[in-house]
Amino acid sequence: MAVDTKTMEMLQTAPDISEGLDLSWMDNTGERGMRAHPGRRGLTLEEINKGSYGVSPENAEDMTMAQRGSGRASGVPRIGYHVRKKSDIWSDNAAMLYEEAVQRQWSSATDIPWAELKPLPDDVERAYSQFCTFLTEVEFIAGDTPAYWLPQISNEHYEVKMFLASQIMDEARHLDVFRKRALANGGGLMSSSGNAGLRVIIEAKDFTEMSAIMHVQGEGLVQSIFRMGEYIATNEAEKRIFRLSAQDESRHVAFGVMHLKYILETEPERREEIHSYLEKAEPLIGAGGGSAPVAGGSPIFGASLGMLFGHSLGSQEEGGRMALAAFRRQLNEYMHRLEVAGMGERRYRLPAQIQAILDPPKN
Ligand SMILES: [Fe+2]
Ligand SMILES: [Fe+2]
Repeated sequence: MAVDTKTMEMLQTAPDISEGLDLSWMDNTGERGMRAHPGRRGLTLEEINKGSYGVSPENAEDMTMAQRGSGRASGVPRIGYHVRKKSDIWSDNAAMLYEEAVQRQWSSATDIPWAELKPLPDDVERAYSQFCTFLTEVEFIAGDTPAYWLPQISNEHYEVKMFLASQIMDEARHLDVFRKRALANGGGLMSSSGNAGLRVIIEAKDFTEMSAIMHVQGEGLVQSIFRMGEYIATNEAEKRIFRLSAQDESRHVAFGVMHLKYILETEPERREEIHSYLEKAEPLIGAGGGSAPVAGGSPIFGASLGMLFGHSLGSQEEGGRMALAAFRRQLNEYMHRLEVAGMGERRYRLPAQIQAILDPPKN
């Protein structure tokens, strides 16, 4: 369609719209010209961590909203990212774990075959409810704690922030799936644990202290329990809950193990300090005592777990033996994770009651 004469006149007399505009922002860029292509797992963070965008600074100087690689603005307020040192928070697998978390999200509402739940004997249902009440408490702390640390970490170390964000989502799903299991079969919630072991996690003053106690120790112990889910599950719905939760939990543990490894390799002088954190938290493992030897120092959790094992194995005596075997397995796996992180010597500094249960070293 032809432009009419009146419009042509208006266009010719209209002021130049670029006149007076500040276009300096067009030159305030980070590196340009790089290309990223989807790899085997798609266009992951690792694929875009190219050139200067992939260089995670040892010290994040900028406390504003600026992200790694962007042009900087002057005169902008700080946000308060006080944890600025890479070694304080870094884990080489954070980006990969974030991508895996995003790709393996699941829904407790639709991915669990809830119709498989069947009425259980009253004592077994109560044990399941108690077990799930405790786990829900644990999952709250596992979400609250990274949520406390996330806003303190610099945007320059964004991979760690994104991993922590994915962990918070995972933990929300865990607490909701165990709460749903407690309520869905008529048992409801049972006793809160008032657990001191969980308080140690959220009271940690240093990120590495928190990560060693929560990711490596606490979540490692929970992960071992999830992996034994097939013994505790009474139907396919519960099996699926444990399988999917274990899959998530393995990421959280992997982050912590790799962070510990990173700090021990880059700042070996922190080794004794890390021992002191573990020394503080380890006595709380199994503090429930002989009849309730499980993580977290909760006798009622231990008792409920033993009853579930007993139901599955057809005898409470067998259940008690299995609970003890489960505790030994938890401790062996905890020790193995410390070995992978480079703290194998921890074996000889564990509390006596843990050393007594641990298998001897393999070599
Ligand atoms: Fe969890
Ligand atoms: Fe977790």
